[in-house]
Amino acid sequence: MCGIVGYIGKNPALPILFSGLERLEYRGYDSFGFCVLNNNKIDFLCKEKGKISDHCHLRDSKSVGTVGIAHTRWATTGLVTKENAHPHCDCKEEIFIVHNGIIENYKILKENLVKEGHKFISETDTEVLAHLIEKYFEGNLEQAVKLALREVRGTYGIAVVSPKYPNKMVAARMSSPLLIGVNSDEFIVASDPSAIITRTRQIIHLDDDEIAVLTPDNFVISKQERESSSWSVRTKKIETIEWNLEEAEKSGYKHFMMKEIMQEPSTIEDAIRGRLYFEGGNVKLGGFENVEDRLRDVSSLVLIGCGTANYACKVGEYMLEEYAGIPTETDIGSEFRYRKSLFSKNAAGIFVSQSGETADTLAALREMKEKGLLTLGVTNVVGSNQARETDAGVYTRSGPEIAVASTKAFIGQLTTLALITVYLGRQREMALVMGNRIIDEISKLPELAQEVLDTKEDIKRIVGKYIDYKDFWYIGRKYNYPIALEGALKLKEVSYVHAEGTAGGELKHGPLALIDENCPTIAICPSDSVYEKMISNIEEIKARNGKVIAIATKGNEDIKKIVDDVIYIPKTLEMLTPILSVIPLHLFSYYFADALGKDIDKPKNLAKSVTVE
Ligand code: AGP
Ligand code: GLU
Repeated sequence: MCGIVGYIGKNPALPILFSGLERLEYRGYDSFGFCVLNNNKIDFLCKEKGKISDHCHLRDSKSVGTVGIAHTRWATTGLVTKENAHPHCDCKEEIFIVHNGIIENYKILKENLVKEGHKFISETDTEVLAHLIEKYFEGNLEQAVKLALREVRGTYGIAVVSPKYPNKMVAARMSSPLLIGVNSDEFIVASDPSAIITRTRQIIHLDDDEIAVLTPDNFVISKQERESSSWSVRTKKIETIEWNLEEAEKSGYKHFMMKEIMQEPSTIEDAIRGRLYFEGGNVKLGGFENVEDRLRDVSSLVLIGCGTANYACKVGEYMLEEYAGIPTETDIGSEFRYRKSLFSKNAAGIFVSQSGETADTLAALREMKEKGLLTLGVTNVVGSNQARETDAGVYTRSGPEIAVASTKAFIGQLTTLALITVYLGRQREMALVMGNRIIDEISKLPELAQEVLDTKEDIKRIVGKYIDYKDFWYIGRKYNYPIALEGALKLKEVSYVHAEGTAGGELKHGPLALIDENCPTIAICPSDSVYEKMISNIEEIKARNGKVIAIATKGNEDIKKIVDDVIYIPKTLEMLTPILSVIPLHLFSYYFADALGKDIDKPKNLAKSVTVE
């Protein structure tokens, strides 16, 4: 998920690796490392926790080697420590590897390798790859990598070097982007064009199941045929990157927010990877293993977060009550401390936070720990305060979220809360068939999310119709009431236009006074158990000349007769509709703010992580 740079050519590698890694810093990371070969010796090897700028002295290191790999880590497996930073190596220090992605079956692979006598230094999934390659290494590096990768399930972008073969680098890709920059006398392997374009604009994109073997003068790319497991050499097109550096960091998107919205399908994939257990109609959450029995006794839950994360909590409340059968409430991090909270000793708290550093949420967490109650985290940043201070937790694995407005991280939070719902439900009355039905629907979400993103031009057109309005209402019911709140927050945050969210049933208790032809409403009304009630709300609004944009289920033609515009989402389980219904609201807010020329990634007055109370 974070950054790889590899160099093989005729120039000293270290300065090129350094500047390449610095161009990847924008992606967010928690540790980094380098390995440079000088003939069959390692002439530079370092791994550090923290930022590159905290270790400037490294730049002056004496290294003349012309082959090297470097990595910025965004931890997914194993805490943020120097030992867990990349590169990782095998027992004999003959294989050095950097890796982006998640190896979902690393535990079983590690168990087997330990039984075969391999000694591990780190907690990471990546180190398993190094020892797996060692297992097959009989003098042919690329062959060893190919055989090792056949045993791996998950995602990877890797670069591998060996002092035994100093003029060779092997790179391979499965889902995690990996590019090769092509120059007359050198090649640069990187996870992102921004690390390459200062050396060359000629690049090759590796595709899934492809492996590249590079020497200073040449490279060969081959692809494994899934069925036969044989490898065939591929001729790849060399493309020219026209982007400037800033555009490259955003993968060609105008803003990080759009890049991150477009990553939402893969965010869901990463959140569920290796966690759906169809045979048992359940999910596997490694982060709950140490509290599995305590969770069976949990009699009530309180979900706590701030801002967007609090709205994720509100969706989770509906999920957990309906499908896990646990009495659940939510609270805002900044308000929780004022409550004389009368929790039973079997109550538990679930703390939701992208950064894991939000002061208000941490304050609530510490308050709950004071009371001796079980605390669980739903966190994106590995090793963050929240991740370390909760008794257990599940990482959302959403990767770095750069834009201040939270989009893909929210999707990761909702997906993770759905997994936790199945986990706790299956500990209680949820039957295997229901568990299977839910996880089967969850497994389809990445594709369904992509379907919503494919309607982005329609959404952009609709934004154009409403761009002159200064006030918006968002309404929803049950699972989509929190999505109304989140949609309004998103529009406010990035476009500075006034927007409010409310439960559909609340309109007549006050907000309706504001509805007229100058105040459009976005009504989130998928075909679910509260659809008819939402139609009544829409009719209340239309009776007062209010315009309505509906978020409706694909195939519902009737809705077109009563609203002004419709944005469709695919059908899914009611409890999962928020994961799809929020996507058009992300796009609506983005296009609205872009049309107004706002500073979308860094909205005024806001911070990405609010570490003050
Ligand atoms: C969301 O778009 C905002 N940036 C903000 O509400 C954010 O969700 C809130 O500050 C909580 O942050 P956290 O998830 O890092 O705890
Ligand atoms: N899963 C690996 C780790 O946790 C790689 C993470 C990344 O992509 O930076 O070390």
